[in-house]
Amino acid sequence: MIKKKYKICVVGLGYVGLPLMLELSNFFDVIGIDADRNRVNELKKSFDRNLEFSKKKLDRICKKVFLNDKKFVLKSNVYIITVPTPVYVNNKPDFRSLLSACKYVSKNLKSNDTVIIESTVSPGTVEGPCKKILNLNKINFNLCFSPERINVGDKEHTLSNLVKVISSDTKAGLKICDEIYNKICKKVYKAKNIKTAEMAKIFENIQRDVNIALTNQGSVIANKLGISFTDVLETCSTKWNSLNFYPGLVGGHCVSIDPYYLIDDCKKKNIDSSIITLCRSYNERFVNLVYNKIVKLIKKIKKPKILLVGLSFKDGVVDFRNSKYIELYKMLKKLFFVRVLESEQPLKKSGIKNVKLDNNKKNLGNYNFIIVCSINYFLKKKIKYIFSNRIKKKYLLNLSSKFKYNKNNTNIKLINF
Ligand SMILES: NC(=O)c1ccc[n+]([C@@H]2O[C@H](COP(=O)([O-])OP(=O)(O)OC[C@H]3O[C@@H](n4cnc5c(N)ncnc54)[C@H](O)[C@@H]3O)[C@@H](O)[C@H]2O)c1
Repeated sequence: MIKKKYKICVVGLGYVGLPLMLELSNFFDVIGIDADRNRVNELKKSFDRNLEFSKKKLDRICKKVFLNDKKFVLKSNVYIITVPTPVYVNNKPDFRSLLSACKYVSKNLKSNDTVIIESTVSPGTVEGPCKKILNLNKINFNLCFSPERINVGDKEHTLSNLVKVISSDTKAGLKICDEIYNKICKKVYKAKNIKTAEMAKIFENIQRDVNIALTNQGSVIANKLGISFTDVLETCSTKWNSLNFYPGLVGGHCVSIDPYYLIDDCKKKNIDSSIITLCRSYNERFVNLVYNKIVKLIKKIKKPKILLVGLSFKDGVVDFRNSKYIELYKMLKKLFFVRVLESEQPLKKSGIKNVKLDNNKKNLGNYNFIIVCSINYFLKKKIKYIFSNRIKKKYLLNLSSKFKYNKNNTNIKLINF
């Protein structure tokens, strides 16, 4: 019954849109649209460049994926927009993809259709610029916002077991979101209105950014006082309400981007956002602190041979977007001998060039300065060869919260930052 009721078109088949399309296809008639010809061609051949889904899984939807230059979508009555919302180099929000996706949908919109936006935006965007474009043909439609919460690479918090926030400007829209997302998610939460849901999504990520900035500064202070911050965090964790944050470099496409959307909005409206701005800029600059720390230490080592492990912006993913570890690598290689342990194919596919890799397990024991940035399944398997004792004393800077080294290995000299 419900299957026949909703014909869904997912617009933007990236990290968010593709898993969404796959889940929806278990219950509804779904098609997927993307503006990137290469992405569409790859998906038609059941290949996911983000290496999240197997060929077998994609075979189910590969015939339902189209480029956005065709009118295949005319039969749809629900459109879900999952396109990127990045920032320009000056950190100003870049709405181009979102507005062009809205324009595409507006051309196909029919009376009583439903448009759900999942892309992260600042409060007022959905009912402001998005609605204006979607309204071009003056058609009655339900406008909804349902922010995405998945954590790419996280097998625990997937679409099917998270609470999905939904919101709409009409009762009918809210009911439609409820019916659709209840099929594919553990639970839905009806936000009071669209603006509340927009702000909640951004604030979730700001909370992380602010807490990481605080933890980063804590680690610097502890280090200057000659205290191990790892030990400090372990001690803090015994309190019932201690927060589970680790120092580290904040990159990627959510935590390091979303705060800028609210900051920009506040600037325009003359609202104070100084705490958010300060923490964002502290995290943005933290790579320089880490770099300076490494340089200071390396100068004391004879013939340093540096190995950087993992360039993904965080643990557990193969995703190099806005990775601070790539920035760190570029800085270090100007001065030192540095090689990287990382999967070659995904790096190439992401268009990242000029990275000198060393994935040869026979060589890995020869490095004396190890910086573990981020790890995933592939790197976990190889990492053990690094600590095979060809060079006995090794310095280890562990920037990954998932990598656990052998504390009994007396050849490892741990660096705190
Ligand atoms: N990746 C995550 O873990 C995550 C988590 C929560 C929220 N989000 C948010 O979800 C949104 C999507 O993020 P993503 O990581 O999936 O992005 P992505 O870059 O992986 O994918 C977006 C896809 O949209 C396509 N696209 C761009 N413009 C288009 C257009 N006009 N029409 C059709 N297709 C278009 C691109 O070609 C790309 O394939 C962003 O707003 C992001 O902030 C992402």
